[in-house]
Amino acid sequence: MSMKVPFFNNTQLEESFHYREDDTPDHVAIIMDGNGRWAEKRDMPRAAGHKEGVSTIVKIVKTAIKSKVKVLTIYAFSTENWKRPKHEIDFILKLPKEFLSIYLPELISQNVRIEAIGDMNNLPFYTREAIQHAINRTRDNDGLQLNFALNYGSRHEILNATKELIRDINNGKVSLDELDEQQFSGYLYTAGVKDPDLLIRTGGEKRLSNFLLWQLAYTEFWFTDVLWPDFSEKEFLHALEKYRERERRYGGILK
Ligand code: IPE
Ligand code: IPE
Ligand code: MG
Repeated sequence: MSMKVPFFNNTQLEESFHYREDDTPDHVAIIMDGNGRWAEKRDMPRAAGHKEGVSTIVKIVKTAIKSKVKVLTIYAFSTENWKRPKHEIDFILKLPKEFLSIYLPELISQNVRIEAIGDMNNLPFYTREAIQHAINRTRDNDGLQLNFALNYGSRHEILNATKELIRDINNGKVSLDELDEQQFSGYLYTAGVKDPDLLIRTGGEKRLSNFLLWQLAYTEFWFTDVLWPDFSEKEFLHALEKYRERERRYGGILK
């Protein structure tokens, strides 16, 4: 599928979706895995899988909006992904610019607010610029919050938060005795954002790969073998349905 598919076709959406607003997860986080294997299975370069994966993002953002998800956080590039060959890294890091140059106007018209989590400083200028432009342009929107996790690593995030916190304790801004979990959370990239209710990982692996270690403490997990480029609206809705069947006890007992 080319990237130039129409992003929103409301008539089509109205006809093809049946959703319940109750018990929909407010925040869905996704580890979009399996692009490389999708391409390799077709004797295509891994880049083709990453490109196709962008089309899946388009579909899933659309479905998330329709399903009344409030926050969607997608893992696009990890701090460990720098271990890959340079040409693959370059290709992946050009995708945000390509994606936004096509879809930003539609995202704006759909009231989406774009945010990023991760260390933006070490990203190429064209990636940072495209993301920053999108953040600025969508700042006042109050629809779906779409968080791109780019150069994101949870240990890096927690370590940095700790360093900043120690600085603030040392300069008297924060009281060590009064420090609590909520205050600590405020030092993470996800400050002010509710923890994910549902984590989806495509591509068959059952691991977190350094994603949101603090924030996923009580999140419901849903894994699928489907490779990210093959992940569909139907599967996303199925994951939401499975989430609704879960009993979230948070260590307590059901009444
Ligand atoms: C996920 O797909 C995308 C990124 C990590 C950027 P992969 O590229 O990891 O695909 P597989 O896991 O090798 O199939
Ligand atoms: C996780 O996928 C990172 C992203 C989806 C961006 P990886 O493919 O990098 O994870 P591992 O290496 O299999 O754990
Ligand atoms: Mg992978």
